[in-house]
Order: sequence, then structure tokens, then C-alpha cells
Amino acid sequence: MTDPRKNDAVLVTGATGTLGPYLCAELLRQTRATVYCLVRGTDQVRAQARLRARMRKAAAPDLESPRLRVVRGDLTEHRLGITPAEYDALAETTSAVYHCGASTNLAAGYDDIAPLNIGGTREVLGFARHRRTKTVHHVSSLGVFAEAHSAGHPEVDEQDIPSAPMAGSIDYSGTKITSELEVRQAATDLPVTIYRPGLILGDSRTGATDPGELFTRILRAAITVGLAPTTAAQAPVAPVDYVARALVALSQLPATGRTYHLIEPIPLIISDLFTHARNYGHRLDLCDTTSWRRALDDNQAHSAAATIISFWKSVHYLLDTPADYQAPHVHSRATRRALASLNIPCPTSDQAFFTRVFDHLTATRVLPAL
Ligand SMILES: NC(=O)c1ccc[n+]([C@@H]2O[C@H](COP(=O)([O-])OP(=O)(O)OC[C@H]3O[C@@H](n4cnc5c(N)ncnc54)[C@H](OP(=O)(O)O)[C@@H]3O)[C@@H](O)[C@H]2O)c1
Repeated sequence: MTDPRKNDAVLVTGATGTLGPYLCAELLRQTRATVYCLVRGTDQVRAQARLRARMRKAAAPDLESPRLRVVRGDLTEHRLGITPAEYDALAETTSAVYHCGASTNLAAGYDDIAPLNIGGTREVLGFARHRRTKTVHHVSSLGVFAEAHSAGHPEVDEQDIPSAPMAGSIDYSGTKITSELEVRQAATDLPVTIYRPGLILGDSRTGATDPGELFTRILRAAITVGLAPTTAAQAPVAPVDYVARALVALSQLPATGRTYHLIEPIPLIISDLFTHARNYGHRLDLCDTTSWRRALDDNQAHSAAATIISFWKSVHYLLDTPADYQAPHVHSRATRRALASLNIPCPTSDQAFFTRVFDHLTATRVLPAL
């Protein structure tokens, strides 16, 4: 919790990602804290420019706020890659860390992303203990329950603790499990709160959607080849502005040690995404995943198709759930109760939402005009 009476300050990691700019904007809006952002960059000016560019893209309105500051650093380096003097000063000033930085590459190998996802979390915990005890707001993922059903947990809620078998074959999930468990262990001497988003969708107000997100790439490829894969897959989801708004509001509650699921109550049926695209006016025929892959191979000259081929492991994981796969039912009742008391209703990603998303992706030329 930030104290509005003090000149409070917080550190945010991952500010240049999909969620980070929204998180920063909400911290500026909901609190009076100075928001320090750990940003990579060859120098301070470039790091600052990168954050501004990302916040502008995410339509975050507070670009000029004097409370938004950049600390050039790197989560994979000792003491966050910042100078000892700056590290000490920042550790004295800040009362909380919002740890959002991670590799979200579903296709990456464990050893490639562990230094960031696990090592970076250890660095954050070390920073939180340095000089002054800080609250750690850790952004985990519902990917920690990817294979919970086959591991004997058909239903999961905020109280459930992930374990290694629940990660399945996705190394990203494995690293998120390990980092979440290390944050939980740190609760013996640090105040910690854990937030698990599902798949993060675009901005519910503006439709602004990250062109680099896997869903956007899948849609772009499908529209390029005029074919979409049939899939029974579903995923817990929520729009990015809701995830950020809810996370910051929950972080202001006095109690720590809680876990929250930042998702809509009903999961998104992935094939509905293609239905929304068709309703918007795009011509999309349906085929099985093997035929879709063949169509992508035949259209490799198009960057949209080539990109999906390069991400195939993640795409395959998302779309082509084996016949015997069952996703766990993910509950978020406790989180929604807490958010109801804060007057933050949960949105629904319906056709109206996807129309805004398609409008945005068309206006920004990520998707072709009709
Ligand atoms: N997106 C989703 O659907 C989703 C779903 C569930 C959970 N989550 C979790 O939510 C959090 C945010 O996800 P996101 O989608 O916003 O991630 P993202 O778009 O992939 O952004 C990752 C962020 O981490 C930063 N980062 C990467 N390597 C770094 C390093 N060595 N040092 C410092 N910062 C580094 C990136 O900075 P650069 O700009 O320098 O690369 C970027 O700001 C993650 O913890 C993720 O696991 C995301």
C-alpha cells in the first residue's frame, strides 16, 4: 500500500511490456507515489525514450508526469544492473515493487528464460530486503496451472499453490511456477501479494491491442491466408486496462499475503475470436490445424504467416489442444468479491469489445482494411 501522506515511491519492472505501461498509468492515477521504472537501454536517454514510446502506444495519458521516472537497469544483472549508489538510494526511497518484467515467450527453453523469470525475481526479492522492507507485488500467470487438470486438479482457485507437474511441457509455465513459489517462500520476511492474469487482451475502452501479442499475430495470419484453424481451446482472459486497474486497486488494500486471479469469470472460447473476425467482415474459412499449417507454409512470403510458423510451438500449444487435454476450471470468486468492494466491475470481452479491437488493429494497419 502506498501512503498518500508521504512522498512515497514504488519501483515497476516490465514497464515497457504489454501490461507495464497500463500499470504505470494506473499507479499514477490511483496513488500519489513516484513511479520508478526499471528499463533496459544503452543509456538513460534511450531508456527514457523507450518507456515514453511504449506508454504512448498504450495510450497512457501521463507521459509528462514528473512522478514517472526511469531507472536504467536489467533484471538479469547483479543488483538490477544499477550503480551501487543508485541501488542504495532507490532501496531507501521505495516502499513497494511491482514486479511485472518477464519473458513471456511460450516457445522458449527453460534455460533461456530462467535467468530472467527466476533470476530476475530473486533480484527483486533481494532489492525488497535491502535497506528497507518493501512490499512485493508479483505478477505471476495462470499459466502456472496449464496442466493442473491432468495433475489431479480439475478446478483451481486463488488458494491453490502450483507445483512442477502442473507446468506440463511449457517451460515458460515452469519458470513462472518456480518464481511464484520463491515469492511465496519470501513471505516469511517480506509482505508479498501475487496476481495471476490469464491471457491479457487489448484495452476495453479503446480497443488498443499490442501487435506483438500472440492472439494478434494468430488473427493476422488467419486473415492473411483466409483460413482459421478449428479449435476447442479456451483460455481465461481479461482486457489489459482491467488487469492494471484491478491490480493497483488491490495493491492498495492493507492486507498482504493474498493471491488474486485477474480474469473474467467466463473463459474465452478461442474459436469465438475467429467468429468475431468474420462478424467484423473478414472472410475466414475453417480448417483443421494441419491444413492451416500447410496454408501458412504455402504463404511464407507473407510476414504474418512466417511469424506464426516461427512461433509454432506456442501457437500449437494454444490452439491444438489434444483430444484428451482438459483445461482446469479457474475460479476467481474471491478476487471478484474484493474488486466488487472496490467498485471495479469485471468486463466481458464480447463482440462489442472485439469490434473496438478490430477497429484499432485496422486503423493501425496491423490488419488489412475490409
Ligand atoms: N501477456 C499475457 O497474456 C500474460 C498473461 C499472464 C501473465 N503475464 C505476466 O504478466 C507480466 C507482464 O507480461 P507482458 O505481457 O506485459 O510481458 P511483455 O510484453 O513480454 O513485456 C516484458 C517486459 O519485461 C521486460 N524485460 C525483459 N527482459 C528484461 C530484462 N533483462 N531486464 C529488465 N526488464 C526486462 C521487457 O522489457 P524490454 O522492453 O526491454 O524487452 C518488458 O518491459 C509477466 O510477468 C507475465 O508473465 C502475462
